[in-house]
Amino acid sequence: MEVIVVEPERFGDAALEAVFRATADIASPVVGLATGKTPVPLYAALRARAGAEWVARVRPFAIDEYGGRRDHPCANRAYFALHWGAIPGAAAVEQFDPDAPDRAVECNRLATALEAAGGLDLVVLGIGTNGHLAFNEPGSGPGTSARAVRLTEASMAAARGCWGLETPDTGLTLGLAELLGARRAVLLATGPAKAAIVAEALEGPEGPHCPASYLQGHPATVVVLDTGAAALLRRGGGATRRD
Ligand code: GLP
Repeated sequence: MEVIVVEPERFGDAALEAVFRATADIASPVVGLATGKTPVPLYAALRARAGAEWVARVRPFAIDEYGGRRDHPCANRAYFALHWGAIPGAAAVEQFDPDAPDRAVECNRLATALEAAGGLDLVVLGIGTNGHLAFNEPGSGPGTSARAVRLTEASMAAARGCWGLETPDTGLTLGLAELLGARRAVLLATGPAKAAIVAEALEGPEGPHCPASYLQGHPATVVVLDTGAAALLRRGGGATRRD
């Protein structure tokens, strides 16, 4: 696992460099895309830079979606329209449809489409304050596949900032099997509020109590942190570490 720590103002560019590096040798990479506040600087950097050539090669897949209305402004669908769709040359993101009549069928549909595309070449991930990856909440094992889930209180609390009283208590997510099956992974985290969970995920024991900890066993993960999120790493922040 490679851990890159940068000053907050460098975060978007550092994340973009990690993503470019992870896909440099792949002509048409299948890429799983995170939502949330963390990757916003990555998508902004992609828009601002000569990223369009890379974007045009990418086959993008959403890694999760809220179980609320599909057309809700806080749905990941709206997020992608804003942050990904605004990048010139970007292909439409393959996404979960929370309005599908049967969510189990819908999750299988997306997982099958992903499998048909050859699986993920790269997954770009954020981390929840409870250690979730996408909506694989604590308790999720490494063999879990795409499915509808119930959100934890921590995830709902994070969602309330946007969704307010309409905060969904369910989600649709790729499983840890699909995410950890990605050939390469880039995990992103920013800010001191993520410092404790980042330290637990990277340096604590691997297990379902912290789904992000399974990345320790992934063969090709790059972690990009700002100094706030790296503050509690025992092996330090402010430097690049490879182990
Ligand atoms: C959300 C999503 C994740 C995301 C994480 C962190 O609820 N399900 O895919 O990575 O929580 O979000 P943020 O970057 O806003 O802290």
